[in-house]
Amino acid sequence: MAVIFHDTYAENIPRDSAEAQRNTGYILHPAVQATRYLDACVAVAGTGTAAFLHELAHDWSEATLHGYDISTCLFPPADTLPLNVSLILYDACQDVPSSLQGKYDFVHGRLMAAGLSASESTGVVKNLAQLLKPGGAMQWEECDFTAVCYLPGGAHSSIDTASKMGKLFSTAMRLRFEAGMSWPQNVHTEAAAVHRVRGTRERLTANRMQSIFAWARLQSARGSKWALSMEYLEELEQKAHKDIQSGCYGSFDVHIAWGFRPRIPS
Ligand SMILES: C[S@@+](CC[C@H](N)C(=O)[O-])C[C@H]1O[C@@H](n2cnc3c(N)ncnc32)[C@H](O)[C@@H]1O
Repeated sequence: MAVIFHDTYAENIPRDSAEAQRNTGYILHPAVQATRYLDACVAVAGTGTAAFLHELAHDWSEATLHGYDISTCLFPPADTLPLNVSLILYDACQDVPSSLQGKYDFVHGRLMAAGLSASESTGVVKNLAQLLKPGGAMQWEECDFTAVCYLPGGAHSSIDTASKMGKLFSTAMRLRFEAGMSWPQNVHTEAAAVHRVRGTRERLTANRMQSIFAWARLQSARGSKWALSMEYLEELEQKAHKDIQSGCYGSFDVHIAWGFRPRIPS
């Protein structure tokens, strides 16, 4: 498959959408769900493995579902996709072509912030808002990776290595996240503490740690200022795995923003 961009992303949270639903309480915020209709046109930005589209396709079988991504790396084979899903190469930092402006009833974004620079985030939100028809809805979810802390789940849990790696990643991400994303007016937000769901803690923590180590290896290969030697990372990964097995879990919030494009331009 053609790739036009070196994709630095690793999967950040479990792709199992049922898990996402347990943690935030929903896939679509009820206010967005209430506006849905059968033959809606949907765009998912930074679609990755198309997990979100797979989930939507169950209930939105008559909708047109488009997934956009800057890289095809995570795209599943086309013949495994539901019939109403298509995946398209597209950089959300670029201006929106006029053929896509005002085309969609619903636009979704999730977990893109870690791969965007502070100056890109706001432009991406603006670009994606242009995809919306008047009255169309946008929903976005991001985990706050700058405030993750690793806690002992039991009296004999160890947390040191998981905490060390969590801190390294948070520090590296701080600049990207501190700038925040600026949202148009009338956007609503809420947050859910994902670790409150006990049954998903271990998987979430293991998944986060896996992506932190994937990121750390990339830094090492690039010789960036966050680089640790590959041998040391090997050792740390085993220790972090032991921490998780001992009951250590990551505590963090997922932030959800949603809003509607005004029907009458202001
Ligand atoms: C961590 S993955 C999340 C995938 C998906 N949103 C999900 O939650 O299942 C982030 C995705 O955003 C994509 N991405 C990053 N920057 C992008 C950009 N400027 N335009 C489009 N996609 C982008 C990456 O290629 C990656 O597939």
